[in-house]
Amino acid sequence: MVRRNVSELRAGMVLAEDVLTPGGRFLMPKGTTLDHGHLKSLLAWNLPDVGVMGEVLADAPPPVSDEAAVAAAAEAAVAERLCLLDPEHPLTPLLHRLALAGEIRRRKAASGDAPAAPPHDHAPRPVEDAPPPMASPDMLLRDEPKLVSPPEVYLRISEVLRDPASTVEDAAASIRHDPSLAAKLLRLVNSPFYARTMRAVRGRFPSKVDSLSRAVVVVGGRQLATLALGVSVLPLFQDIPPHWVNMRVFWEHSVGCAVAAQAIASALGREGAEAAFVAGLLHDIGRIVLFKQASAHMAAAMRRAAAGREPLYLAERELLGFDHAALGGLLLQKWQFPANLEKMVRYHHDLDEPLFVEEPAIVHLADCLATAMGWGASGNRHVARLSPAAWDSLGLGAEDVARLLPGMEARLAETMHSFFPDRQP
Ligand SMILES: [Fe+2]
Ligand SMILES: [Fe+2]
Repeated sequence: MVRRNVSELRAGMVLAEDVLTPGGRFLMPKGTTLDHGHLKSLLAWNLPDVGVMGEVLADAPPPVSDEAAVAAAAEAAVAERLCLLDPEHPLTPLLHRLALAGEIRRRKAASGDAPAAPPHDHAPRPVEDAPPPMASPDMLLRDEPKLVSPPEVYLRISEVLRDPASTVEDAAASIRHDPSLAAKLLRLVNSPFYARTMRAVRGRFPSKVDSLSRAVVVVGGRQLATLALGVSVLPLFQDIPPHWVNMRVFWEHSVGCAVAAQAIASALGREGAEAAFVAGLLHDIGRIVLFKQASAHMAAAMRRAAAGREPLYLAERELLGFDHAALGGLLLQKWQFPANLEKMVRYHHDLDEPLFVEEPAIVHLADCLATAMGWGASGNRHVARLSPAAWDSLGLGAEDVARLLPGMEARLAETMHSFFPDRQP
């Protein structure tokens, strides 16, 4: 570590220690790769000097595009992100290797003009006041009026799902009421990866599914309705305050978890891979409610998690009395989502109770993979330790995960494009 005057800091340098304000409040965690926003903030706090990593930075700092500096910064970021994983677990070396390769790729791609901070480097804004007493999860949901009643199209689709006598035409009719939802679903089922998976699982799958009726026949009415259920509620969660987590970054984490959960469920030969996809998509949805309705608590929780190197869901439990998974489960319960979906969301961080191990274990592993690989972020800096009960219940080996990960990564890019077609994949 070397100490540098704040005026000598450059984008791309990595903090070798936590940075506190002169008043002793937590500002940025060790391991943060500095970008222009961080530099401004450090200057604004008028700090004398801070510790940054590496002898190589002692003299003139190398540009971010320098191979060695990029590799060192990526290594530090990945080591910090994965620091809670059990070093003895068979998955840990694999995740470290693949996460590092991904991090280097991302940093090289971003080292153009203005360096964009990777998702994990967003520091929470300092909040000066202590959090006020916490409302109950019920109150939080009641205070968000548009969450009280889900969109109308959702109600039609969930009716179809609940009625065992419903037909594929009923499913198509329920979705057709919302043209933008129908368009999103068609893009989703037309992605090459989805088509390949469906061909493997259900045999014949046409190269292009051009109408909703055809999509229903090909994918299956209930499966398409399940996908529609998840996709139909996404517009409700598009206004996250940007200083917390950028919306695209949050959805990238959610979609990453969704594609990983679907791939794991398919690899295990489980029925209902679409349900795993939707559960992955919505697994952290309670956190959006918390960012909006309990921002002071979340600021404190994020500071505590970053400073104490603990998973954010544990800091939430300490400060709120419950976590985002419980809140998300409650929301899905209120909306009468199918029970298996609700359970996968509610228990994705709570795998020690043998009763709940099976289905939530898929989302738990998928979340671990998405966070470890740096696919977006939902406010969490550190990958939580993988539950041994969840890992054992799935019966997978590290080599299975290694085989699945490249496909998940490709599907993530495709699916992000189908949800956000106007943006660059
Ligand atoms: Fe979570
Ligand atoms: Fe997550």
